Amino acid sequence: MSDGQDIQGLLEAVAAEARPLAAQGKVANYIPALAQVPPEKFGLAVHFADGRSFAVGDVDEPFSIQSISKVFNLAIALDWIGEDLWQRVGREPSGTSFNSLILLEQEQGIPRNPFINPGAIVVIDALLERYPFYNQQLRNLLRRLSGDPTVGYDATVWHSEEAHGDLNRAMAWLMKAKKNLHCPPDAALSAYHRGCSLALSCRSLAKAGRFLLGGTGEWPLSNDPTRRRRILAIMRLCGLYDAAGDFAYRVGLPAKSGVGGGILAVVPGRCTLCVWSPPLDAKGNSLAGVRALELLVQSQDLV
Ligand code: DON
Repeated sequence: MSDGQDIQGLLEAVAAEARPLAAQGKVANYIPALAQVPPEKFGLAVHFADGRSFAVGDVDEPFSIQSISKVFNLAIALDWIGEDLWQRVGREPSGTSFNSLILLEQEQGIPRNPFINPGAIVVIDALLERYPFYNQQLRNLLRRLSGDPTVGYDATVWHSEEAHGDLNRAMAWLMKAKKNLHCPPDAALSAYHRGCSLALSCRSLAKAGRFLLGGTGEWPLSNDPTRRRRILAIMRLCGLYDAAGDFAYRVGLPAKSGVGGGILAVVPGRCTLCVWSPPLDAKGNSLAGVRALELLVQSQDLV
C-alpha cells in the first residue's frame, strides 16, 4: 500500500478497533506520577523511511517514554563504548519481569540484557563513567532525531520514581557488591530514572526511531548496518520483557515498550511505528498498543 489516504484510513480503523481494549488494562501505579495520566489517551503514528508520516489520535501530546529510552541508551553506548559493553551485560532474554532480582544474584551481577532494569542501569553507569553530562547529551540527541525542540525530562515523573525506586536501588547495590557498577549507585540510579522520564509525543518518537531504519544520514546507526541489525535483534528478543515471545508470535516486529504505555516498533528498512495507550497488561505492556500493532501487521499493508 503506498497511497497516503489508504494508510491514514488503515490507522483510523486500527485505532477504532484497538482503543476500547484499554478499558481492560491498568495504568502503571508503582511510579505514582504515572498513575495520574488519563487512561483514555491513545495515539498511533507511523514514519516511513522516505519521510512520509501519518498519525491518528493523541499524537502530539508528550508522554513518559520510560523503558523505550533504553533503545537510545544502548545505541549510544555501542557507538561510544563499543563491544566492551558486553563484558558487563548480556544479550539473552530474561524470561523474568523487568524489575526482577532473581537472576541478578544467580548470575553474579551481570544482567541478562540491556532492556531489563538492571541491564539499563549498567548501560547508564558505563556511559556516566565516561560522560558525566550524559543526560544532557541524550536529550539533545532525541531533540535532533525527532526534530522536536520541546523534548525534555519530566521532573515530576523523575522525582516520583526516585522516591519509589527501591527495587532499582536493590539491583544497583547488588551489582555494586558484584563489582559491576562503577559510579556511586545513587548517581547511576538518578541518571537512569531521569532518562526514563523523557517525554515525547508519538509523532516525535516515531521520527526519532528512524535511525533504526538506516539511510537517514542520522547518527548513531545509519552508517552501520551490522550494529543496526544487532539492536533490532535485541529488541525482538528482549523488547517486551517476559512477554517478548507472545509479542513475537502476535506481531513479530522488533519493538520496545515502556510502562508509560508507549511502544516503539520497527518494520526494518521501511517504517517506524509508535503507539501510546497508558493502561497495561499484567506484564507491563500497553494492552491496546499491542493489539494495534497486531492489527497493523495483520493488514499486511505496512510490512
Ligand atoms: O525503572 C522502572 O521501573 C521504570 N522507570 C521503567 C520501567 C519500564 O518501562 C519497563 N522496564 N523495562
